[in-house]
Amino acid sequence: MSLSKTSSAFSVKAALRLCERLKLSAAQTEILLRAMQSGDTARRALVLSSKATAKNYRPPFSCESRERYSWLPENVLLPEVGVNPAQYADYEAGMYYVLDLSSCWEGAALSAVPCTPERSLDLCAAPGGKTMLLAARFPLQNHTANEVQARRRGILRENLLRCGMEHVQVTGLRPDQWAGQGEQFDLLLVDAPCSGQSLLCKGISNPGCLGSAAVNGNAKRQRGIMLQAVSCVRPGGHILYTTCTYDPEENERVVAYLLRRIPGWQAEEVPLLAAFRSDLCDFPAYRLLPHHGCGAGGFCCLLRRLL
Ligand SMILES: C[S@@+](CC[C@H](N)C(=O)[O-])C[C@H]1O[C@@H](n2cnc3c(N)ncnc32)[C@H](O)[C@@H]1O
Repeated sequence: MSLSKTSSAFSVKAALRLCERLKLSAAQTEILLRAMQSGDTARRALVLSSKATAKNYRPPFSCESRERYSWLPENVLLPEVGVNPAQYADYEAGMYYVLDLSSCWEGAALSAVPCTPERSLDLCAAPGGKTMLLAARFPLQNHTANEVQARRRGILRENLLRCGMEHVQVTGLRPDQWAGQGEQFDLLLVDAPCSGQSLLCKGISNPGCLGSAAVNGNAKRQRGIMLQAVSCVRPGGHILYTTCTYDPEENERVVAYLLRRIPGWQAEEVPLLAAFRSDLCDFPAYRLLPHHGCGAGGFCCLLRRLL
């Protein structure tokens, strides 16, 4: 494969090592490397807000059929390629939130949460996409959107207000502070800070994201966040762990570490995502890559506390 001229700077050698760790076939490796080179794999989606769903709203631009994406909830639409939904007045009016299709795919694991969570916490919430996706599946009852970084917390607050979600509480505690408080939730979303390798496939420069320093540093932080997160969930409750990176060290191995360290947790099957099941672990976890044709990629695993 010749990949001498790259539009986004990344090390082809490091990318090939990643593909080996992911056990990709030659064809899948080629698709991933080409996506990293072209940076054009992003795919926009719209999550309709409650302002829109209350009115049977239709956006003022064409949307594609969602037939291929059986894992999308009804109120997530796919604008036709080339449409920029953030340029429309309806965006400012909060009729919808715009995010990447891969994020919607990660959120699809919520389809295996058996009933509406009464109390939920989005631990790493800014700018708000996963909270919007939760609201697309369940009526939010007592939901908190938490973000440790003050600037990002401001953006989160603006996005929630624009989309009519003033009833969501916004907080800025660290995971260890949440664990120390002793509050317990039915559902925690942990959309963890990660090396963001999929950003390369969206044309976003992310130097060093394929290197071991970034991957190991992020994996350590993710294990730390998850060790705190488990004590914030009541028995029978769930954690949805997601990232937008490919490396198994930040994905399957973080979950495997948690399952080894903390008794009484199990990874849950997500029937809607069966076609995406990871073969890098012996528990149900799901990964999306550019060869699936649903955006830049991501990882998700739904965990349930048994005891
Ligand atoms: C992947 S982003 C979240 C994206 C968001 N869930 C969404 O869908 O729009 C990860 C977030 O985690 C926050 N973060 C960084 N370090 C953290 C830590 N140690 N504990 C908790 N959150 C952290 C970042 O500020 C960032 O906003």
